[in-house]
Amino acid sequence: MIRRHQALRVSDAPRLESYPHPYPEGWYRLAASSELRRGGVRYIECLGGQFVLWREEDGDAVHVMDASCPHLGANLALGRVRADCIECPFHLWRFTGSGRVARIPYSDRLPQRTAARSYPVRELHGQIFFYHASDDTTRNDPAQPPYDLPKIPELDDGRLAYRGQHDEGRVGMHIIEFVENVADTAHFQPLHGQFRIPWTRIPVPGVETIHSPQWMPDQEQSWAMHLVDDVALKVLGRRLERPLALAHVSFWGPGSVMTFRIRLPGLGEVFLFQTHLPVSPLEQQVDFRWYADRGMPRLLVRCVVGGWISQWREDVEIWGSKIYRSRPLLARDDGPIHTMRRWYRQFLPDERSEDTQSRMHSAQEPAERRETESPIGAATLGGNADRR
Ligand code: FES
Ligand SMILES: [Fe+2]
Repeated sequence: MIRRHQALRVSDAPRLESYPHPYPEGWYRLAASSELRRGGVRYIECLGGQFVLWREEDGDAVHVMDASCPHLGANLALGRVRADCIECPFHLWRFTGSGRVARIPYSDRLPQRTAARSYPVRELHGQIFFYHASDDTTRNDPAQPPYDLPKIPELDDGRLAYRGQHDEGRVGMHIIEFVENVADTAHFQPLHGQFRIPWTRIPVPGVETIHSPQWMPDQEQSWAMHLVDDVALKVLGRRLERPLALAHVSFWGPGSVMTFRIRLPGLGEVFLFQTHLPVSPLEQQVDFRWYADRGMPRLLVRCVVGGWISQWREDVEIWGSKIYRSRPLLARDDGPIHTMRRWYRQFLPDERSEDTQSRMHSAQEPAERRETESPIGAATLGGNADRR
């Protein structure tokens, strides 16, 4: 018999075939700011591409470019930063952060057009993000990403203080799974109903967690959606009156950048970033970084974060061997899975239509409800689970 916490070994092929595009368009975290010193260069493979991440020598500006030199293809990550340029190791051409050729040591006739492809970059709250669209270079215009990441004032003004980070490493899952997870409200109780010792899989006997999840797309920013969940405890069958935590999870884009506000009534607030970066179609690099009210005991903060990570690992165990059902058989009381899938289409290179593109640019309308069938959101088969 296979126990649930043992990972199954399953073939990738049928899984890969079942999922939507593995590299949706959006903002992705590439590194912590502290990992890239002035003049530093890093090579990163992700999202089906090869990138070089570098920081200018005499400023703080960070740049992301395709790693292959436009001249004869050497890997720029083997090169050096020279002032505000990166120098290729092969023939020593230099490129600015916007991809222009700034110097060719053996020629004074420089190509005028932008040569190396560069991407929009943001350095925010101790992390470096870039905007990636796999299909269309104009959508990678560094000056005009289709939407931006949120600034969190409490992190800037110091009300919430930095308290830690955690590198979960590479996790076997498709990037859509965490997004689906929040609309799939029916899994909360069966999968996350057991209270566990934070950071572990060890259940606390007699203590259950009661969830009240609610999913909603953002009404003003079409690329955002939210989940609110009031969490209560049941001890030896009796529900405690006081809620344990009130969680508000926000998705900024296609499941790549998530923020959590977890409020413990009477004790304070924890703010958590969770980021997913696809390193292959079924594998994500996952990182956490958190902040909290200054007065909250650090151990308590660590328990709150670890409590969430324990729950999330319960999902990971399922995600690592499942397929994606484009035509799921749903029950009447399943969550709004099709609505969520329609929302998600705006990020898919092979699904994006003109109206979703203009929505992302105009930021006026919430995700529209379209009835067309597609690999990501097909007709409801099992009743009105997507009530609207
Ligand atoms: S390959 Fe980069 S300068 Fe020639
Ligand atoms: Fe879950």
